[in-house]
Amino acid sequence: MCGIVGVVGRLGNLNAARPNQSVANDAAANLVINNDNSIGVVDVLMEGLRRLEYRGYDSAGVATLVDGKIERRRAMGKLENLRTLLAEKPFHQPGTIGIGHTRWATHGEPSTRNAHPHKGERVVVVHNGIIENYRDLRDELTKRGVTFTSETDTEVIAHLLDQALLRGLKPQQAVAETLPLLHGAFALAMLFQGYDDLLIGARRGSPLCLGYRNAAIDDDSHTGVAAHLLASDALALAGMVDQVTYLEEGDWVVLSAMQAVIYNADNQVVARPSQPLAMNGQQTDKGLFPHFMLKEIHEQPATVVDSLLPFINPLERQLTIDLPGIDWAKLHHVTLVGCGTAFYVGMVAKYWFEELAALPAIVDIASEFRYRATRSQMAELVVFVSQSGETADTLAAMRFAKERGQKTLAIVNVPTSTMAREADIVLHTHAGPEISVASTKASTAQLTVLAALCLAAARGRGVINAEQLSAHLAAFADLPGQFAAVLAEDDTYRRIGVQLAEARNILFIGRGSCYPVAMEGALKMKELTYIHAEGFPAGELKHGPIALLDSGVPVITLAPPDRLQEKTLSNMQEAMARSAPIILLSDAASCQRFGNQAGITPLALPTTSTLTAPLVYTLPMQLLAYYCAVARGTDVDQPRNLAKSVTVE
Ligand code: AGP
Repeated sequence: MCGIVGVVGRLGNLNAARPNQSVANDAAANLVINNDNSIGVVDVLMEGLRRLEYRGYDSAGVATLVDGKIERRRAMGKLENLRTLLAEKPFHQPGTIGIGHTRWATHGEPSTRNAHPHKGERVVVVHNGIIENYRDLRDELTKRGVTFTSETDTEVIAHLLDQALLRGLKPQQAVAETLPLLHGAFALAMLFQGYDDLLIGARRGSPLCLGYRNAAIDDDSHTGVAAHLLASDALALAGMVDQVTYLEEGDWVVLSAMQAVIYNADNQVVARPSQPLAMNGQQTDKGLFPHFMLKEIHEQPATVVDSLLPFINPLERQLTIDLPGIDWAKLHHVTLVGCGTAFYVGMVAKYWFEELAALPAIVDIASEFRYRATRSQMAELVVFVSQSGETADTLAAMRFAKERGQKTLAIVNVPTSTMAREADIVLHTHAGPEISVASTKASTAQLTVLAALCLAAARGRGVINAEQLSAHLAAFADLPGQFAAVLAEDDTYRRIGVQLAEARNILFIGRGSCYPVAMEGALKMKELTYIHAEGFPAGELKHGPIALLDSGVPVITLAPPDRLQEKTLSNMQEAMARSAPIILLSDAASCQRFGNQAGITPLALPTTSTLTAPLVYTLPMQLLAYYCAVARGTDVDQPRNLAKSVTVE
């Protein structure tokens, strides 16, 4: 939900060639290289925050130690406002230690005084997560005479640490004493007055990774590590560190420029594996695209292949998905769980499991799953879908299922995420880093993996023969070209997106596996353009929503050439009869059939199959919402009130 970064030590010139990173690193383009060829710590923090801004952008702030004393700068709104403030009021020296934060407000409205970092007398803290018992702690501290300057839960942490330091504890002791007092989720980075070579981080329920920048390449003054960095996710460290360690639940870490000591929740020193950080700065930039979202939409002909190939070889017509311990023939039903787009992806898979594998499927909103599920609905297998692998609702649901002895299978796009590490089985989507808050390439990648899973279930249950399986697999060979064909109509979608910008309500209708795609289209439209939009099963329109229709309420109709197409087209005509402008997404023949009718804008799509229709019909949903948002001037990559990964319940 928020993004945190921390650094202690000196980073040499990012342009120095490094074995596992590209030399020309875009991060350098955003950093000021000091005259001694080092990089000011504030520049490192700002570059890290720039990459984390998609996690929240209500306010931002940084802190450092100047002559051992805490200094901080905080600004409301986008990171740019903080950059402006730092230009007007720079820290008195570049420094070699600092922490930074970009916020998605949980406690306390977006404002400068609620912006992180939060400080006590001797300590300054940045935090991602929610401290559930903060009110009790705050009341107790207030009784002890502590004065609060914000409404945040985070400030409580700063004052608890302060109180421990006041009693003479060392920073490490103060942290060890304070962490158990906190109930809820946190990823923390902390600095301490007078300790300009000490950075402490901690994680419980919110992700935190530790990066190492080797000195050997920056300069030959010494070998080993020249700097340690902390960040909410590895993306913030790409190109700035050589190795990364993903801290485990309950871990906390004591860092100096050259040393790192990791403790577990029981305060025992532990070793955690580190690995080269494969990403580089380029993956965190838009390239020639105006927005990350458009870049990621256009990456889909490639990312869908990257996600397909580990499980399906369409040319060889091979299904190579292998799930340890899953006997599909013995499963009575499967449950799918997710939030937002990931939930709608699960809804599509429900149709596939039931239609192709004759396997009943329950789809549940993650935040409902734990509180609704009864023992009778205990599926042996629960599939959790999540791009980030950190969504608190989905993670909590997965942990609940594990506690109940259900086998958990996670489909995630971030291989190092908490869900990837905790699920019994993990199937990775290979969409690459998805920066835009609106999920696009990750969703079609998720659909691809789920299609392979459904075919594996159909084969395992013996309800599909080799010829039928082969035909389904062959259809995927056309997918990249079909995606490219849709993307080639970019200008058409731009034109229609502009027309939609004036609407006050927009309805999306579809049937079968395109009904969830209609829901996804409505989500894209509302989260990007702030226009109220709703998706319905086409057959449901006449049971109430049709009352909404008039000439100001466009109805976007998804009508792939399947056995339900005629019924969907009939529902479309019911909407037309109420003067609703129609955008018809269908095969070329159907578009030609209706294209001359006044009030219909036909958008012909490639002819699809049972498994490829929801994938192909998802792209127009993305493009229409994108261009409508651009026309309305909303913040496409960082829509208001949203965050990329919702790591609070
Ligand atoms: C998608 O466009 C939204 N940003 C949101 O609904 C998202 O799909 C949801 O928060 C789930 O995120 P996850 O896939 O990372 O779990």
